[in-house]
Amino acid sequence: MGSFADRFKRIVKETNLTPEQEAKYQSFKKRGYRVPSKRLIKSASDIEGIRASGVINTGVLDYVAERIKAGVSTAEIDKWVYDYTTEHGAIPAPLNYEGFPKSVCVSINHVVCHGIPSEETILKEGDIVNVDVSTIYNGYYSDASRMFIIGKTDAGRERLVKVAKEALEEGLKAARAWHFLGDIGAAVQQHVEGNGFSVVRDFGGHGVGIKFHEDPFVSHVGKKNTGMVLVPGMVFTIEPMVNMGRYEIDIDEKDGWTVTTIDKKPSAQWEYTVLITEEGPEILTY
Ligand code: MF3
Ligand code: CO
Repeated sequence: MGSFADRFKRIVKETNLTPEQEAKYQSFKKRGYRVPSKRLIKSASDIEGIRASGVINTGVLDYVAERIKAGVSTAEIDKWVYDYTTEHGAIPAPLNYEGFPKSVCVSINHVVCHGIPSEETILKEGDIVNVDVSTIYNGYYSDASRMFIIGKTDAGRERLVKVAKEALEEGLKAARAWHFLGDIGAAVQQHVEGNGFSVVRDFGGHGVGIKFHEDPFVSHVGKKNTGMVLVPGMVFTIEPMVNMGRYEIDIDEKDGWTVTTIDKKPSAQWEYTVLITEEGPEILTY
């Protein structure tokens, strides 16, 4: 770290951008565009930390994928997640997060997200299940979720799961440096609504890495060329929740967590943690 610019940068902790990127950032800012605050732009070493966390997070989901089947309780999935994560020197981020009592969110059929694992909840043939895993490793956070179809389900649910995955991929494609956050929401919304489903509004993606939930809020509905400029070094989740019926949701009053569709029709969700680079979006955990 020899040059004056490098030393200056470290002293004022100003920027993780190259001089060219910094000029571009300032130019957008001057023209009145919303730009991320500098603390949302990760350093190379932060990115390596989040990447390492993401490797374990992906390992957890692969471990679940190999074992999930009819007859298993969601408490068993919680134990798999806890054991795998801690055996790899990491911490399950949901555990005790704002009072969440378990290590993973498991959300079945009309449960949209934040389902709490329980001995009483047993997976059965035809269920569509979201397993949402978040990991802390060396202080760095990563976050991803996948859908699992238990045995064979009906054609409607199968299509819902497929369209939700495609919606995530469309959002990912729109996550391009120097484009806009609203492009992601627009791409997701167009794909979902074009297939006759709806997009949950009340929950979305989020910055992640140094904390579990950072700015920006990543809406899965939106308009192209609106919202925050996407700057290289930003890390956030894309995690569209796609409902078969209406987009409105309810939160369970008793447990304070479980989110369900208001019409009790099924919902599906897939999630990646994504790094913005000049060369395109990079998936850090999937
Ligand atoms: N993993 C969820 C997300 O995508 C967060 C769950 S919060 C918890 O943001 F407390 F329920 F874990
Ligand atoms: Co998330």
